[in-house]
Amino acid sequence: MQIRIFLYIILFFFISCLTAEAAGESIALRYPSDNTIMEFGLLGISLYVPEGSAELIKAKVNGKDILNIIPGLRYECFTLPLALGLNRINITAIREGNRVYDLNLNVFRRSDLVSEYMKAPPGFQKNYFHMKDHEQCIKCHILKAREFDKKPISPMSFAAEAFDRQTVIAATSTCYSCHNKIASYPYVHGPVAVWSCLSCHDKGSEPKYSVRKPDSVVCFGCHIEQKNDWNSKKFTHGPVTIGKCTICHSPHASEYPFNLYKPTWNLCVNCHSEKANGKHVLAGNFFSEGHPTRNRPDPVRTGKKLTCASCHSPHASNSPHLWAFDVKSLFELCQKCHNK
Ligand code: HEC
Ligand code: HEC
Ligand code: HEC
Ligand code: HEC
Ligand code: HEC
Ligand code: HEC
Ligand code: HEC
Ligand code: HEC
Repeated sequence: MQIRIFLYIILFFFISCLTAEAAGESIALRYPSDNTIMEFGLLGISLYVPEGSAELIKAKVNGKDILNIIPGLRYECFTLPLALGLNRINITAIREGNRVYDLNLNVFRRSDLVSEYMKAPPGFQKNYFHMKDHEQCIKCHILKAREFDKKPISPMSFAAEAFDRQTVIAATSTCYSCHNKIASYPYVHGPVAVWSCLSCHDKGSEPKYSVRKPDSVVCFGCHIEQKNDWNSKKFTHGPVTIGKCTICHSPHASEYPFNLYKPTWNLCVNCHSEKANGKHVLAGNFFSEGHPTRNRPDPVRTGKKLTCASCHSPHASNSPHLWAFDVKSLFELCQKCHNK
């Protein structure tokens, strides 16, 4: 009996909330605000669409049609892809052939890797979603993190543990309903694949869910093998020395192996641009062409292509110039591939 009354109260509360909002009547954007700064390639949009107010919602990014939706719920939630730098987003609603809603938003996607996008233009700022309560969203979504949003996983045992991914996602993630697109890339990082978001995002931090810096404290928490190995080396690579793992690796997922932001060769010449001309090593000697740095098979790492990482460790080494295999001399390096 008591439970029943309780349910009625909840239902009453729910209906009164909905009607209160419906009284507003017009289409309204709930998230995000204009001139927001984002870090990654995805932007969640939430639009309030009263029943009967539109037959079609269209979304464009930088002039390109991305979505056409026929509204069903009172809320339309969708995710838009972001390019690096400035993104001009346009959302329109059509009713009886007329444009009844037309909104323009600017969102800047910054990047530490590409110097021209490192800083947002004046007037842009971070717009932290989770710093507010968002009562409009909790009618349909759960916003409070739960115990199972942090799962005990380790790179050492991950492959063997054979998680049932589908079950994990559907049943045990608070974050999935809004952030489901974050894992839709070919290469997904272990903890993201099993929706252990709070392995890195701290719910007690300020701003909420921000990740401890430098990255290496967080990454080495699980990648202990790499931590011990790299800390024992004589030389570490510039960005690794300052703990900036996520300048090269996406913490979530990416198009490229090892969750890199670019294929290895392109990643390296992004910062070492003088090596992009292909005239590296041997150049200026008797071979005017220089040593190849790509587009050949790697003689040592079978199945892989030759890249900068065939001769250099991206992280740490005991050899000068971060040579791979911890070789003692230049000659020994050449021999690794040319001893046949
Ligand atoms: C009337 C119910 C309702 C309300 C209110 C609502 N949502 Fe949603 N939202 C949904 C449904 C249903 C989905 C689809 C869930 C799924 O696919 O698992 C969704 C999905 C999303 C997504 C993911 C979109 C995608 O690409 O799959 C985001 C982001 C989102 N909501 C944000 C919000 C925010 C922010 C608010 C509050 C301002 C909000 N929602 C309010 C029902 C709602
Ligand atoms: C109601 C939908 C919703 C749910 C549920 C949700 N988020 Fe978000 N979150 C958003 C939106 C919208 C943004 C704005 C940025 C974006 O579009 O990704 C955001 C942004 C973030 C950010 C960037 C910082 C910020 O506050 O803007 C982090 C980190 C984050 N979410 C983590 C999480 C984690 C972890 C969970 C699960 C415990 C979670 N979110 C659940 C909608 C949601
Ligand atoms: C391996 C660590 C790690 C894991 C696991 C992780 N994140 Fe993140 N996430 C980061 C880092 C690092 C950032 C960059 C922002 C920062 O440093 O606070 C970030 C940023 C974000 C943002 C901000 C996006 C933007 O464009 O500004 C969202 C949203 C987010 N994470 C959601 C999630 C969700 C949802 C999960 C679970 C599926 C998750 N993260 C798991 C490390 C992680
Ligand atoms: C909660 C534990 C955890 C944290 C924290 C974590 N990782 Fe991982 N990482 C894993 C697991 C599990 C795998 C999957 C290993 C596998 O596929 O067998 C993985 C795999 C990887 C891989 C791919 C390795 C391969 O051989 O394909 C890279 C690269 C990586 N992590 C980088 C990072 C970076 C960078 C950070 C910090 C931003 C980080 N990790 C933080 C658990 C973690
Ligand atoms: C300069 C770019 C760059 C930075 C910075 C960087 N990595 Fe990597 N990482 C790479 C590349 C490239 C590979 C793939 C190498 C290959 O092709 O074998 C890789 C591979 C990995 C792997 C899997 C293979 C292995 O070597 O064990 C892990 C784990 C990893 N990185 C973690 C990290 C962590 C943790 C940090 C920060 C301490 C970090 N990386 C910083 C470029 C980088
Ligand atoms: C985010 C920028 C960045 C990326 C990406 C990057 N590096 Fe570096 N690299 C640096 C910095 C900074 C230094 C240190 C500069 C110095 O000490 O002269 C450095 C130093 C080096 C050195 C040592 C130079 C010497 O004189 O001993 C080598 C070798 C190197 N990088 C190779 C690579 C390779 C291979 C890759 C791709 C896996 C790569 N780098 C990707 C920034 C980067
Ligand atoms: C075939 C092996 C090999 C490949 C492939 C290779 N390197 Fe090197 N790298 C060397 C050697 C050997 C040196 C020592 C200096 C020299 O003799 O030119 C060196 C030196 C360097 C240095 C430090 C000294 C300098 O000239 O600035 C950097 C930085 C560097 N390489 C980056 C790269 C990048 C980026 C790539 C990919 C585009 C790459 N290397 C591909 C072998 C290689
Ligand atoms: C990681 C493996 C690797 C290392 C280390 C390496 N090479 Fe090479 N080298 C190659 C590959 C692959 C080719 C291309 C072979 C082909 O085209 O069939 C090549 C080609 C060459 C060529 C022919 C150049 C051309 O235009 O075809 C010379 C000469 C050469 N290497 C010398 C060296 C010297 C000297 C060193 C030491 C500084 C060295 N290599 C280190 C893999 C390597």
